[in-house]
Amino acid sequence: RPRVFSGMQPTADSLHLGNYLGALTQWVALQDTHDAIYCVVDLHALTVAPDPAVLRERTRRTAAQYLAAGVDPARSVLFVQSHVAEHAELAWVLGCLTGYGEAARMTQFKDKSAKQGAEGTTVGLFTYPVLMAADILLYRTNVVPVGEDQRQHLELSRDLAQRMNSRYGPLVPVPEAHIVREVAKIYDLADPTSKMSKSNGSVNGIIELLDDPKVIAKRIRSAVTDTGTEVRFDPEAKPGVSNLLTIHSALSGTPVAELEDRFAGRGYGHLKVEVADVVVEALTPLREAVEGWLAQPEKLDDVLAEGAERARAIARGTLGDVYDAVGLLPAG
Ligand code: TYM
Repeated sequence: RPRVFSGMQPTADSLHLGNYLGALTQWVALQDTHDAIYCVVDLHALTVAPDPAVLRERTRRTAAQYLAAGVDPARSVLFVQSHVAEHAELAWVLGCLTGYGEAARMTQFKDKSAKQGAEGTTVGLFTYPVLMAADILLYRTNVVPVGEDQRQHLELSRDLAQRMNSRYGPLVPVPEAHIVREVAKIYDLADPTSKMSKSNGSVNGIIELLDDPKVIAKRIRSAVTDTGTEVRFDPEAKPGVSNLLTIHSALSGTPVAELEDRFAGRGYGHLKVEVADVVVEALTPLREAVEGWLAQPEKLDDVLAEGAERARAIARGTLGDVYDAVGLLPAG
């Protein structure tokens, strides 16, 4: 079976609806057809300088959300990035294959470093996409399910795979991005022309998976819609309404065209009420399952320990082949 790998940063107490629809639901679906490996990328989260106790807590919470959403440890490997030392080791080798200009062209780096200024920008933020490439190539990954915002990073991973193979002989497959068009970019409710994101925008624009249902309903009711009254999917002219239709359709399984018919002549208010219901209905069992996992931290840690062991076995093999191919002297 082809191998799938993906990860998320533990940079918030709760994942948001963009993470869930753009990535997590795809991960769960791909378990049926792929050999799946899913990771909480805590090393990447160090780029935002989190409080140590908070990072530990969020790492567990992120893993609990994967499990609650349906990542099944009986079928998938689920682990924490820092538990497998090979990620950082392969990242060094790949860093030596990455051009400085190539890394400097990454738009996420450009955006974030522009906000933080030269002194506030770390080398870790700069090499972030190289570590991401290491995550992917270490498992000889074929398919990487992510949202649209990771497309450029995926392109870099592909370039590095090709470069390593052409310089040192065939070592890893060239990974394909798995980006599902309809849900690849979920937008901020308060500013429907920017993506829903933990780091920018106001908190009112985000739906956190673990939010109180009342808060979720309120945020959807206050979502920015557009001038006019017609419920129609038109991302250019009606970004707010289109985003709500996307969210409804993804969670309810109802095609957008059918929703347009259903809300014909009924205005935005009705749409918002129903979207709020659909979201709360989908997220309530998830929130309860997360609470269940967080109430048994030992069980959660056991799952992660077993996952790390299985991941390490694969990672060791790839890293050994790479070290050998690039000419590092075996430790004997
Ligand atoms: P992160 O933690 O920012 O986001 C996790 C996943 O959620 C997707 N996503 C969205 N999808 C749709 N609409 C949105 N508004 C939205 N916001 C976020 C992201 O595309 C991502 O799939 N660099 C990665 C983490 C990473 C990784 C990897 C991913 C590290 N190593 C290896 C895949 C493979 C990141 O920052 O994701």
